[in-house]
Amino acid sequence: MAIRKFGTVVAMLACAAPAFAEAAPKEKEVWITIGTDALEPARASFQQKGLALPAPALEKGGVAVLRVRESQLETLAAAMHDKLNRCAGFIAHDTEQQALAAVEGSTAPQSLASLVSYNINNGPSVNAMLSGVQELNIRNTINSLSTNWTTRRYNVQSGADAATWLKSQWTTIAGSRTDISVAFFAHSWLQQSVIATITGTTHPNEVVVIGGHLDSINQSGSTAAAPGADDDASGVASVTEAFRVAVANGYKPARTVKFMAYAGEEVGLYGSNAIATSFKNAGTNVVGVLQLDMTNYKGSSYDFGMVQDNTNASLNSFTTSLISTYQPGLTWTNITCGYGCSDHASWNSAGYPATMPFEATMSTDNPQIHTAGDTLTYTGGTAANSVKFAKLAVSFMGEVAKGATTGNTPPPVDSGTPGGTINTATFDATLKAPRCTASGAGCDSGTLLNGRGGLGPEVNRPNTIGGTCVDGTSGTYHSDESNDRLKVATNDGTNLAAGKQVTVTATVWAYSSTADTLDLYYAANASSPVWTLIGSYKPAGSGARTITATYTLPAGATQAIRANFRYNGTAGSCTTGGYDDHDDLIFSVQ
Ligand code: BES
Ligand code: ZN
Repeated sequence: MAIRKFGTVVAMLACAAPAFAEAAPKEKEVWITIGTDALEPARASFQQKGLALPAPALEKGGVAVLRVRESQLETLAAAMHDKLNRCAGFIAHDTEQQALAAVEGSTAPQSLASLVSYNINNGPSVNAMLSGVQELNIRNTINSLSTNWTTRRYNVQSGADAATWLKSQWTTIAGSRTDISVAFFAHSWLQQSVIATITGTTHPNEVVVIGGHLDSINQSGSTAAAPGADDDASGVASVTEAFRVAVANGYKPARTVKFMAYAGEEVGLYGSNAIATSFKNAGTNVVGVLQLDMTNYKGSSYDFGMVQDNTNASLNSFTTSLISTYQPGLTWTNITCGYGCSDHASWNSAGYPATMPFEATMSTDNPQIHTAGDTLTYTGGTAANSVKFAKLAVSFMGEVAKGATTGNTPPPVDSGTPGGTINTATFDATLKAPRCTASGAGCDSGTLLNGRGGLGPEVNRPNTIGGTCVDGTSGTYHSDESNDRLKVATNDGTNLAAGKQVTVTATVWAYSSTADTLDLYYAANASSPVWTLIGSYKPAGSGARTITATYTLPAGATQAIRANFRYNGTAGSCTTGGYDDHDDLIFSVQ
């Protein structure tokens, strides 16, 4: 196999020239995941060639797992291209375990993200940015990307050069803002991904991703011209314009926004897969991903084709509400793009909610993609169609990340779990800490924990079970450390119950991102707590910060969590430093 990712996952593409054609394939067997709708056409094509397609080992959620000889992958790629009226990817894995994990990932995709409610309440800021979107900027970016290099292929120098160019464009856009950074995400191949980050003001640990793929491909060979104007310079250009209007309007998002240009999409979602996997491993809470891949060709009477597979249903429905609200008159229809057709699938299989509005329906998309004919000229020399997508990206950014542009007021950020009741705790005079007695999807301390020791409004201090763990009294309220709020809620919005994954959200006032640490603990029995460490976390900076952590609820009717926020020292459930704050939250579990 010519292409490997982390030495394990091997991904193939169906429409573009298979990258494995560059090296003699070794005869071995691999496991592939493929859309079940592609099975019959693939089987027919194999039969015509006197070959038999093996029966699937598993079919689940529209995805089949089967074992094929590595040499058969090329036949399969050709079959997918010939028989299906669309591009359809399949993913090859070295082991059955990896293939099965990919299927599980695609059927249980929302396990990681602590879900937020998507709502529309940021009109003034969104409209300010929308009025700044300019077709000419998008056109210029498409033009540069599609004509400066013969190809933006992932494994050649010109592909790497295109990434360097984009990074410098984005760095120029970022200007002098210290809350914005632009960086490469390096890979094991030449082309790097590019990521621009605007750090959220109040919810920096909740991340919104807006991306497209930087690489291009010519299906007839690795040295052939691959301008990739529509696929996907148009997506990257739309993302770039959203980023530009954000900065031009002084937009400061409440949540962190990351603009991404992925390397290596055309050879199997390589770049996005590496990024999404690393975010998953870091426990990053990505609350919404918008993927823009092909935005500048109007193939259909519909303005947007909403990709239904490997995307999140509630984020899709929210995205269509953004269209009706901010671009009334534009139309959309549901489409299915095929298993793993673009980078949204990487995020989805890493457990994050993703959405992908597309330029057409599957049968009416740009016929020139993956050829030398995918030029700006082919789409009329204008970026008019991409304007709709840049505007959709702007409304997605403003409404998912909230915050405000210069002169506007940021709306409230609702981090509530949809569908479930988050109870607000009251002080329990017996246990001596805030408690939610009613059952529900979560429990929130509200304002009860705000402050530390005698500093600030923390009534009923120290708010630890039994009053046994007292707070340090050094320093000043909201200059030095305090743990101000604790919330625990199920990730799926159902009631707190044994075995459920929950997210703890702690709001702290940090003095230092290096010296301060939050130790989070849980106890199965609040009346006689034995504290188990969930983890120790550092705030991303000073001031008000939210820190999240997940754990699985044990059995026990009345449970508790503890925040031990300390200045220096080592992890402990009741550290004794003069700046240390300890707070508990008690809640009912079914
Ligand atoms: N932009 C295409 C995906 C696409 C093509 C969507 C046509 C809708 C209509 C993307 O760059 C691509 O080529 N994807 C590959 C799959 C990937 C796993 C290599 C494909 O669809 O073959
Ligand atoms: Zn493509």
